[in-house]
Amino acid sequence: MVLALAIETSCDDTAASVVDAQLHVHSSVIESSIDQHRAFGGVVPELAGRAHLTTIAPVVRRALLDAGLDPHAPAIDVIAVTSGPGLVGSLLIGLSAAKAYALAWDVPFVGVNHLEGHLFAPLLERPDLEWPIVTLLVSGGHSMIVLQHGPGQHEVLGETIDDAAGEAYDKVARWLGLAYPGGPEIDRLAATGTPGTLKLPVSMTGDDYDFSFSGLKTAVVRATEKNPEVAVADVAASFQAAVSEQLLRKLRRTLVANPALRAVALAGGVAANSALRRGVEELASEFGVVALLPSLSMCTDNAAMIAAAGLYRFAHNGPSDFALSARPNWALAEVS
Ligand code: KG4
Ligand code: ZN
Repeated sequence: MVLALAIETSCDDTAASVVDAQLHVHSSVIESSIDQHRAFGGVVPELAGRAHLTTIAPVVRRALLDAGLDPHAPAIDVIAVTSGPGLVGSLLIGLSAAKAYALAWDVPFVGVNHLEGHLFAPLLERPDLEWPIVTLLVSGGHSMIVLQHGPGQHEVLGETIDDAAGEAYDKVARWLGLAYPGGPEIDRLAATGTPGTLKLPVSMTGDDYDFSFSGLKTAVVRATEKNPEVAVADVAASFQAAVSEQLLRKLRRTLVANPALRAVALAGGVAANSALRRGVEELASEFGVVALLPSLSMCTDNAAMIAAAGLYRFAHNGPSDFALSARPNWALAEVS
């Protein structure tokens, strides 16, 4: 049985996981430094880096112990590590740790693209799925629609031309005086509000697969200044409906243009959003395809998804060289 140990440190989560080639997750440990960033309304790179430095070794040790492995000489076959995109200081800590473990235990390591990791997350829960699928990858840093012809065979159809969907959630939440990260806060409030109370534009209605969220954020600011009497829950519900509508409209276009699609998947932190999950389920049933909605812990950053992508890359491209460096801006389209 081929076993991978994966390490993920691209943002504020220090994560490690052991996964086998059949994509069974033997352990998955996540230590977040989010509490240190809350007061600043966003992730502070220096604080994230320092937190990774102190937590990386205990997190790896716990992932090995949870998987029933000897933490001093684990019987693993490969170490997968996120080498980009992300915060450079944070990436370097995970990458250096992975290289050190690889040298100490005499096992190969493989650098993994964080976005490709997110694309593998739905597979961990549905290894039997049929291809091709379309994935809406929406997180704090990225928003894109990706056609996947098979594992590791992806084609980016469109992406945001400005803010990511999660970034828009966080910025609007900040404007409304809500805690960081704002996505879950707005989602929770939206459940008690009425969508459409605030009249907001639906951007990017053209014949493409791109998104735009910065105009929507500005529209929320303008509309709430003009209508200060509107309840925060109604603002949250109106904003959430406008974001989902834009995302779902482009997913629908993809399903119409690609009748061979077998499933529609959500990935990334915003995939935890209740309106989006509901919308994807409805869309999937309308088009007679499978809705792949990963559990919430698989939507947000974790190392199990990095292990899954790493196992694929190791089998197809072989190990990485020790000269491998962190790539903070590594685009998904450059992965092959
Ligand atoms: O993938 P992720 O954990 O980190 C990266 O950005 O890579 O995504 C975090 C983002 C944050 O912007 C957060 O506000 C958003 O996902 N998010 C949500 C929800 N849960 C997390 N956005 C909308 N609704 C949610 N329920
Ligand atoms: Zn992520």
